[in-house]
Amino acid sequence: MFRTLRSDIQAVFDNDPAARSRFEVIFTYSGIHAIWLHRIAHWFFVRKYFTLARILSQFGRFMTGIEIHPGARIGRRLFIDHGMGVVIGETCEIGDDVVLYQGVTLGGTGKERGKRHPTIGNNVVISSGAKVLGSFRVGDNSRIGANSVVLQEVPPNSTVVGIPGKIVKRDGVRVDRLNHGDLSDPVVDLCRNLQQQIEELKTALEEEKKKNGGIVKL
Ligand SMILES: CC(C)(COP(=O)(O)OP(=O)(O)OC[C@H]1O[C@@H](n2cnc3c(N)ncnc32)[C@H](O)[C@@H]1OP(=O)(O)O)[C@@H](O)C(=O)NCCC(=O)NCCS
Repeated sequence: MFRTLRSDIQAVFDNDPAARSRFEVIFTYSGIHAIWLHRIAHWFFVRKYFTLARILSQFGRFMTGIEIHPGARIGRRLFIDHGMGVVIGETCEIGDDVVLYQGVTLGGTGKERGKRHPTIGNNVVISSGAKVLGSFRVGDNSRIGANSVVLQEVPPNSTVVGIPGKIVKRDGVRVDRLNHGDLSDPVVDLCRNLQQQIEELKTALEEEKKKNGGIVKL
């Protein structure tokens, strides 16, 4: 247990150049307070003391502005910077060495039952204000840009930005703006559809011209 607490503190030093001393981290970092209260609440939750777990979770929310459902499974060295407004849902799973900034929601879309919150891989950064909604996975080493809304699976080593979230970088290489990997873009889909229809009309027109000796009757 002490090893986990020590590694939670170390995560603050690894991610925040402003952190000065252990004393300061323990007494002034609300992210640390929220994670430690969550670890206690989760202990009660898995032993089926659901109400006690919820009370602890709500106490943590009241004190820190960070709401972590006691059922959420959180790995080692999670760092929540600033924290206010962070919401982590019940069936959310978070890997090791993840960084969350203020205003992040790891939530559901309201359309799924059972597992309805995301699974976050190891070493993922989710920037301020980003919303990750649904039961898909965000792959290891990925980054979600500030204020993005991510609604679909994110492959490992990707950077996703925008609403809806699009992959702009994969394995350190910029992704073609019209090729957003697994995340579909309704505007791009519409353009592709229109282009296909134009091609079909052009072909039909050419055939008509050939049939009528270069004359097209409309
Ligand atoms: C996404 C982020 C983590 C950078 O990741 P990265 O892999 O280094 O990506 P880059 O900076 O190379 O940006 C890639 C592209 O996405 C764009 N982009 C980056 N962040 C964006 C965002 N939040 N919204 C929209 N576009 C964004 C960049 O302009 C760039 O576009 P371009 O290819 O047309 O030049 C970073 O931009 C970000 O959002 N940081 C916020 C961190 C934070 O929350 N800080 C709060 C501290 S209090």
